[in-house]
Amino acid sequence: MDSVTTNTSGFLYRSPELYDSIYRFDSTGIRLTKMCHELLVRNGKTPPDSVLDLGCGTAYKLAHLNEAGYDCTGVDYLEGMVSYARGEYPDMRFEVGDVRDVRVGRKFDVITCLGWVIENVHSCADIAKVMDTFAVHANPGALLVLGTHNPIGDLAALGAKSDFSIEREDFQATGDASFTVDRRRQILTRHLNWSLPGGATEEEVTRYRLFFPMELEHYLTSCGFGDVEMYDNIDLVPSDLAGSMLYATAIYQG
Ligand SMILES: C[S@@+](CC[C@H](N)C(=O)[O-])C[C@H]1O[C@@H](n2cnc3c(N)ncnc32)[C@H](O)[C@@H]1O
Repeated sequence: MDSVTTNTSGFLYRSPELYDSIYRFDSTGIRLTKMCHELLVRNGKTPPDSVLDLGCGTAYKLAHLNEAGYDCTGVDYLEGMVSYARGEYPDMRFEVGDVRDVRVGRKFDVITCLGWVIENVHSCADIAKVMDTFAVHANPGALLVLGTHNPIGDLAALGAKSDFSIEREDFQATGDASFTVDRRRQILTRHLNWSLPGGATEEEVTRYRLFFPMELEHYLTSCGFGDVEMYDNIDLVPSDLAGSMLYATAIYQG
C-alpha cells in the first residue's frame, strides 16, 4: 500500500468537506461531471444502467449520474471520503477499497475512474492489478471512462491546477503548486505549499504515475477492453492529444 498511503495523507484528503469546497462547485469540476455523463450517453449507457466509480472521493461527480437515474456505487481508499460521501448521498452505495484489489461482488454497465486516481498507482505490476479490477467488475459491453494527466501533451503539468483557495466562513487557506518530473520512472511530483489559518504552513508532496496514450491502450487491451478512444479536452473535440488531460473510453469485450 506504500504508493497510495503517501498520496492520501494531505490535509485536503483528511478533510473531505474542504476538498469538496474546492472542487464540487468549481466550473471545471461541473464541466467534467457533464462530460462524463455525455460519454455515457454517446456510448448508449442510459438509466437505470449501473455505474461503479473507483476512487470516487467525495462523490460529487457520481451524484450527478445518480440524479440522472443511473444506479451508482462508489469506492474510495479513504474511510473519511467514504463516510463523508455516505452522509452527503445516503441513497447511493459506497465501499472502502483499493482500486488494485477491491471486489464489490457484482458487475456493472459503466466503470469510471476520474480525477487523478489511477495516477496514485505507480508500479506496472500494480497498474495491471487495477486493470484486473476494471475487468472483474465489467459486464460484457461495459463502458470504461478513465481520466488521467496527459504527459504526451503536457509533461511539465503546466496546465494542471496550481492555485488553490479555500474560502469558507470557518476556514481560509491558499495553496501554490509546482511540479517536477522523474522521466525515468514516469512520475510527476506535485509540491503543494499551503498557507493555513494562524500562519501555519504545510507542504504536501504527491507523486503521480504518468501514462502515455499507447501504454494506456496496451494496458486496457491486455485485460479485455477494446475500441479505445481518447480525448484531450472536456468538450470531447477530436484532436492530436496535445492537451493537459487525457480522457479515455473503452468497451469491455471479455
Ligand atoms: C483527486 S481525488 C478524485 C475524486 C473523484 N474521482 C473526483 O474526480 O472528484 C482522488 C481520489 O482517489 C482516491 N484514491 C487514491 N488511491 C486510491 C486507490 N488505490 N484506490 C481507491 N481510491 C484511491 C483518493 O482517496 C481520493 O479520494
